[in-house]
Amino acid sequence: MAAFTSARPGEPTPAISDAHKGPTGVLEIPQRFLMGPGPANADPRILAAQSLPLLGHMHPPFLKIMDEVQQGLRYLFQSDTKYTLCASGTGHAGMEMAIANLLEPGEKIVVGNNGIWGTRVCDMADRFGAEVVNLQTAAGTSFSLAELTAALEQHKPAVLFLCQGESSTGVHQSLAGVGEACAKNGTLLLVDTVCSLGGVPMYADAWGVDAIYSGSQKCLSAPPGAAPLMLNDKALQKIKSRKTKVRSYYLDLNLVGDYWGWFGSRSYHHTGMVSMWYAMREALAIVSEEGLEAGWVRHEQAHKALWAGLSEMGLHPFVADPKDRLVTVNTIKVPEGVDWAAVCKNAMDKFSVEIAGGLGPTAGQIWRVGLMGYNAKPANVELVLAAFKDGLTQQGFLKA
Ligand SMILES: Cc1ncc(COP(=O)(O)O)c(C=O)c1O
Repeated sequence: MAAFTSARPGEPTPAISDAHKGPTGVLEIPQRFLMGPGPANADPRILAAQSLPLLGHMHPPFLKIMDEVQQGLRYLFQSDTKYTLCASGTGHAGMEMAIANLLEPGEKIVVGNNGIWGTRVCDMADRFGAEVVNLQTAAGTSFSLAELTAALEQHKPAVLFLCQGESSTGVHQSLAGVGEACAKNGTLLLVDTVCSLGGVPMYADAWGVDAIYSGSQKCLSAPPGAAPLMLNDKALQKIKSRKTKVRSYYLDLNLVGDYWGWFGSRSYHHTGMVSMWYAMREALAIVSEEGLEAGWVRHEQAHKALWAGLSEMGLHPFVADPKDRLVTVNTIKVPEGVDWAAVCKNAMDKFSVEIAGGLGPTAGQIWRVGLMGYNAKPANVELVLAAFKDGLTQQGFLKA
């Protein structure tokens, strides 16, 4: 090979170092069953869509795919709003986008906090200069409408945050009536649906939810990297009438929304995540083809089948009230004397099944089993049950 002589004509060139030479050879990945709180296994049809040839991020055929994504999201959110898009990033990008745009410094947010996502929203809102009211309830429980209404009347916040599916505790927060209570108090209702969208009912317009963010890698069966987001007219008006600039350029919905065609024309803001938006287009096509209701029923049936098997083994749910149990992320109490980590390790080593431990307030107390999207099916439930049976037998909890 001819020697490389100079970085630019006439400039001296240092010797190339191989000290940190990168990997070589074709990447290989073992097959795993991702039955923790996410990511879930991606649908092969979605992975295939991601390997299609790239289009330019402003090419008309690509803009058409973005339009299809926006339309699919309207169905998923059950909203007629014009304002849907995907943030370029994981669920946290959606979370940060919502907080950065909906709140101005000094404005109040009441955070319904019953797990780590509420805690993170408190942190984020604080970083953006908001006044945070941290409304807490015990891990494993949800907020009643009466509790939320009292907090709204007392604080009259600009925003109320709730997490529909709290994946650290396995709680499903009811949203019925909350939108109405928010509207009466001049508050916008912001909901995290990262672990729930597509797996449990969402009726954004009927429930008066003003803003929602989510994630691609859970009930939508896509890889991580897209954060679906919606605003209704009221939430968009709030952003349009801000007195201060949104403090993040990358996440400013005035700019990102423009790229997604919210305001008529479209202009470049950042390079759209071309392959990731193909994945989202395909994920949303799968949701539309199955039908929302059929998808919700499938998730519920998987949850019931899981618990039928776990109960037979003598295991108990962490969430006491059956109404509060999230079907997509199931939380299971670790019995006295059982080494939870050994059960997870055995599941991975012997069954290639991921079962997760607790997180934040539930660390060391529970296992978490995700039944989301492509994974919410009988064969996966059986595999998880087999892994538990084997692990619990090794631990002496079940008789051999
Ligand atoms: C309920 C909930 N919100 C937000 C997130 C953050 O999403 P991500 O990890 O995709 O950034 C997660 C991730 O597990 C989640 O479960």
